[in-house]
Amino acid sequence: MNRADLLVIHASELVVGSATPLRGAELNHLSVIVDGAFAVRHGRVVATGTTADITAAWASGYVIDAAQRLVTPSFVDAHAHLVHAGSRHGEWEARATGIPKHGIDGGIRWSIEQTRKADSDTMQHDALALLDVALEHGTTVFETKTGYGLDVETELRLLRVAASLDHPVQVISTYLGGHVVPPEYVDRRDEYVQLVVDLMPEAKQWCNWFDVWCDPIGFTRDESLVMIEAARAAGMKLRVHADQTGSSGGVGLAVAQGARSVDHLEHISDTDLEALAASETVGIILPAVTFHMLEGGAHVADWCRQLIESQSIIALATDFNPGTCPTISMQMVMQCAARLYRMSYAEIWNAVTVNSAASLDIAGEVGCLQPGARADFIVWNAQEHGQIINRFGTNQVDQVFVRGHQFVANGRRLD
Ligand code: NIG
Ligand code: FE
Repeated sequence: MNRADLLVIHASELVVGSATPLRGAELNHLSVIVDGAFAVRHGRVVATGTTADITAAWASGYVIDAAQRLVTPSFVDAHAHLVHAGSRHGEWEARATGIPKHGIDGGIRWSIEQTRKADSDTMQHDALALLDVALEHGTTVFETKTGYGLDVETELRLLRVAASLDHPVQVISTYLGGHVVPPEYVDRRDEYVQLVVDLMPEAKQWCNWFDVWCDPIGFTRDESLVMIEAARAAGMKLRVHADQTGSSGGVGLAVAQGARSVDHLEHISDTDLEALAASETVGIILPAVTFHMLEGGAHVADWCRQLIESQSIIALATDFNPGTCPTISMQMVMQCAARLYRMSYAEIWNAVTVNSAASLDIAGEVGCLQPGARADFIVWNAQEHGQIINRFGTNQVDQVFVRGHQFVANGRRLD
């Protein structure tokens, strides 16, 4: 008999998932074991199988009986803007009722003002509380960008706050110096680009990723390239916001520059779609943004199907931020993806686990329960993986584990 630190048994369905990213028709195949079980040693999965197979070969003093409920890998949220100040619910009401005061760029400027005034302790406290909510909803890896400071002092403050977040959720920090041109630089865009370039080596001391918004209301392709080259020279890996409000060639640029992810994609051109499909870059799409920005419709479902059928690697994330996506729940993201993007249950599960992990270079480590992966998983108040998407609006998580340790019980963070 092999000894394990933990056995999880009697999962009605054990979603094992994939250790490598999936594209096209593969995305619609989800690896599931009925009456599944797995063994954990030193925080990692060491064996998976049916409950009969696992209990015949493995023993442990610590056994979680899932009692014929669903067990899945936990979520990897690969795109969010966690650390900021201020709420923009008023701005959203104006949009919803048809009298917008300003566009996304005006909203971002307001968030920049609030964030520059905020102190680190308050932002740290708020970010930790939000990470508790994310964890209670099943997220255990969370990418977060700066981008609401956009001056040297505030961007470094945001990077320091992100680095200080001591939490069971693994936080991966990104320097989004290239979010928008801040108000004081609107007539001196080149000087702002230079500021981002100059800050890169210091930003690299706090994080390994750089992001830029290549878009008609962000930065041009040429401006983005200058910042990307500086990021690469500093040894940072690349994510790119592209083509959210119009086509700027950002997807082609991201692919050519070896970005690990290119996100939004709403206005991707046919040429850029081909480039994405032929690459290893993950296209991250954001259905809760589509929902919140009131942009659903048949065209969105067609766009998503075209992305999948092109053979691009597609992932789903929240884009949690005060303007375009105030939810931090990946369950909500999945529910929006089904209703607005018409993705299947299997496609959605793969897109919130292995493919989002791949966009952060950690597929196989997280986002699946294959042997060798971290034992980051969810025990659900449901029996089948489709129920998490079909039911909407309530938290269906019962328990969450990180590296084989339990941090959520009855849907609430344990102290
Ligand atoms: O990812 N695209 C740019 N940035 C955000 C919007 C941020 C905001 O509205 O505050 C996004 O959607
Ligand atoms: Fe974003």
